[in-house]
Amino acid sequence: MDLLKQQWLLPELSYRERHQQLVALGKKLFFDSNLSIDSSTSCATCHDPKYAWSDGQAKAIGLRNKTLKRATPSIINTAYSLTFMWDGRSPSLEHQALLPIFNPDEMGLNADLLVKRIEQNPDYAKLFDAAFDNDAITINKVGLAIAEFERTITARNTRFDRWLKGDSEAMTVTEREGFKIFLDGQKSGCINCHNPPNFTDHGFHNVGVATLEGQSADLGRFNQTPLNIMKGAFKTPSLRGAPLTAPYFHDGSANTLEEVVDHYQDGIIAKDNLSPSLINIALSKEDKSKLVSFLKTLQ
Ligand code: HEC
Ligand code: HEC
Repeated sequence: MDLLKQQWLLPELSYRERHQQLVALGKKLFFDSNLSIDSSTSCATCHDPKYAWSDGQAKAIGLRNKTLKRATPSIINTAYSLTFMWDGRSPSLEHQALLPIFNPDEMGLNADLLVKRIEQNPDYAKLFDAAFDNDAITINKVGLAIAEFERTITARNTRFDRWLKGDSEAMTVTEREGFKIFLDGQKSGCINCHNPPNFTDHGFHNVGVATLEGQSADLGRFNQTPLNIMKGAFKTPSLRGAPLTAPYFHDGSANTLEEVVDHYQDGIIAKDNLSPSLINIALSKEDKSKLVSFLKTLQ
């Protein structure tokens, strides 16, 4: 058919069908350890559904057992995120997906090897054909498909959501009291940054976790936005899935949700560039435990 006619053709797949084909392809790629140089590591090695799509480690373990600099975040509800990575250095899921594949400490491929590995596996030919109308396999298509799959990883029906939708039994009295404490801007301040429904403000804050000097220094968002206030600032993580994603914080320095709350109450050593959205808190033991019991409804 001549080119002129071809450009007027409607795509063969409807939007919904295209989405389904992309998700099927993206899912296979996400779980495929052949996307790492020594076939040891897939995305799911670190983003494991068992740990709410994180890994249960304080810091991620990469190729050759190398301990990486930061903790693996959950990817639940990243469909709703505006920036990606703890320091927000990636602008989209499509862009993000290629970073670990090409990172020599995570999966360690390059563009040529990535395409070659996929071409070697006959299962992919069909999936790529279906998702992209017989076009050639390219790295950008790998990113598109993985991103489309990741957008299906959502938490929308936790006990908290069921309670919001009217099921008054879905949360206990203690958990509801915990939610009230969470919402109290004077008492806990959590709401200043972790805004429902996704429990994030999409912002970056120094909440007194980061080490700013020495070998283990991690300046976080400052590397993208060199303002003093961004020194040691990290993306406010969504708390969805939090009951399963321990250890917590960008450096995995809190082992439990109780330890996280203790950090906000007693663990913040005065620094000159703490987030102005932090408040001093003095929760009783009982209030802390109510707050934590609320957080545990988010899975
Ligand atoms: C070796 C462990 C490891 C592997 C393998 C890995 N990740 Fe990650 N992932 C991490 C770590 C650690 C971070 C945070 C990095 C940072 O902030 O610098 C992260 C961040 C992310 C984020 C950003 C989440 C957010 O909320 O900002 C997404 C999305 C993601 N990974 C998806 C993937 C995909 C897709 C793959 C496979 C192509 C993959 N990861 C492979 C450890 C891993
Ligand atoms: C000033 C904004 C701000 C306030 C206030 C705040 N947080 Fe955070 N929260 C963050 C940021 C930013 C991080 C990531 C910090 C880091 O790793 O350095 C975080 C991390 C967390 C984590 C770890 C999540 C994970 O996946 O590792 C939990 C749990 C948490 N906060 C709960 C709370 C609770 C409960 C409160 C109230 C007592 C609270 N936060 C108050 C911004 C805030």
